[in-house]
Formats: sequence, C-alpha cells, structure tokens
Amino acid sequence: MSRVAALARRLRRHEASAHLPLPANATHETARWHLAEWSPLAGVACVTGLDAEAGRELSRHEAAAFLSANVHAERRFISAATRRLERGDASHAEYLRHLVEEETCHADLFEAACNAWLGGLQPDRSLAFEASRRSPLEEDLVLHGQLLIFEEITDAHDVAHARAADLARCVREIHAAHHADESRHLAFGRAVLRELAERAHRELDDEARQNVARQLASAWGACWRAIATSEPARRAGLADPAGARAQAWRNTAFAGLRARVLSERLSGLLACGLLPEDMTP
Ligand SMILES: [Fe+2]
Ligand SMILES: [Fe+2]
Repeated sequence: MSRVAALARRLRRHEASAHLPLPANATHETARWHLAEWSPLAGVACVTGLDAEAGRELSRHEAAAFLSANVHAERRFISAATRRLERGDASHAEYLRHLVEEETCHADLFEAACNAWLGGLQPDRSLAFEASRRSPLEEDLVLHGQLLIFEEITDAHDVAHARAADLARCVREIHAAHHADESRHLAFGRAVLRELAERAHRELDDEARQNVARQLASAWGACWRAIATSEPARRAGLADPAGARAQAWRNTAFAGLRARVLSERLSGLLACGLLPEDMTP
C-alpha cells in the first residue's frame, strides 16, 4: 500500500476535529498575543519606541492578522476544493472531503477568536487558490501545492506560538489545536505532492512544469503578504500604517524569518522540482 493510501486509511478512521471549543481564558492582563520575533515589524523603527502596553496592543492585532489570513485562505481553499470535487476528476477525493470538513472547523474557530478577543476579523488579502484551467494533473499540483505552502507557513507559526509560555493562554491553545490537525494534513500533503511530482516528471512537458512552479512560487509570496498587511498598525493606532507595511518588506529580520521557514519547511517541494530553484524568501 502506498504511503498516501495508508495515510488516507488512517484519516478515514480519524474523527474530524469538529467543533474545537473556543478556549475560555482570555483575561490575561500582561501577556502578548503574538510573538515579537514572528512580527513582520520586528525591530523596525516604528515599533521600537512603543511602550509595553502599545506593543501588546499591536501584538493583539498581529494575532488577528495571522488568524484572519488563515480564515480567508481556508475558506478560499474550501471553495476551490469543493469546485474540484464537483467536477469529479480530483485525485484523492476522499481526502479532500475530509480536509474541507476540518478546514471549515478551523476557519470558524479562528473567526470566533478574532471576534471575541482580537478586535474582529481583518480584511481578506489571502491566497487565491486558483489555477488557470489546464490538465487535471496541473490543477491537482497547484491546488495541493498552494495548500501545502500555506499549511507549512501556518504550522511553523503554530508550533512556535503553541509553546511560547509568555503568550496569552487562549491563543496558545488555538495554535496547539491547529497544529494537531495540521500535522496530519502536512504528512498527507507532503506525500501527495511527492506522488504528483513523480507524475509531473512523466506526464508534463517543461513549460507546464515551469508554469506550475511559477504559480507555487507566487503562492509563497501571497501567503506572507496576507500576514504582513498594514491592518495591525492601523488598528493599533500607529501614525503611518502604509509606511509600517513598507518597512516590514524592507525589514531584514522579517526576510530572515521567511528564509528560515523556506529552508526548514519547503526543502521537500524544492527537492522534487515543484518550486523554482531561485526562490526568494
Ligand atoms: Fe487549518
Ligand atoms: Fe490544513
């Protein structure tokens, strides 16, 4: 039995993590809501002078930006996967249905957390999950590839935030619950992509493979843009939110974070030729 089939069998036995309870303990007087070292604005001039309370408020809106990016990306993925399932030619259809169910729960939980504690859901800047209409194999590659890139970035955040003892406990619990589900999604997604990459080498010409790689590289950038918006600075009352966002994109600490996630999380996609070799973090 292939690794993908074995994982699919395990998933069929696994109850979807439906209706994750919203952690109740939000009253944390001094804790931050998002790790400073995972902030796109880490160390930039517009935040280094903030006092502890203002920094904490900015971190609350950065937590909302991260969870909102997840909500919008998950809902777009759900729509794309549902359309793909309705067409009847998706590979691993049973797994896709399971994913749709779990991602629906995640999006609902994250939206509830944003509304309860984090100043509300932030606007949609998310990954599109759209492939130009080509062969079913190319569409599978783009759909599963975009999802895996998004999940790797998200899970890297989840792992770091779930174990950060100085963060608000309710936020840590959300990250830990999400990581538990995403670990399974990632194991399956990596196996699916390896299988699809082998088929791509046999069945697609160079131009088609390069087109897939371009779409996946652009998904990588789109995921980070969805997190690093001007909205947290705006909601936290900083003087120049658009300028803060521009500083984030010039911030070497943020570039270093992206480079670390790229090397720790996407080496598999790079190795099987599904991303361009000259990926910029
Ligand atoms: Fe999720
Ligand atoms: Fe997922």
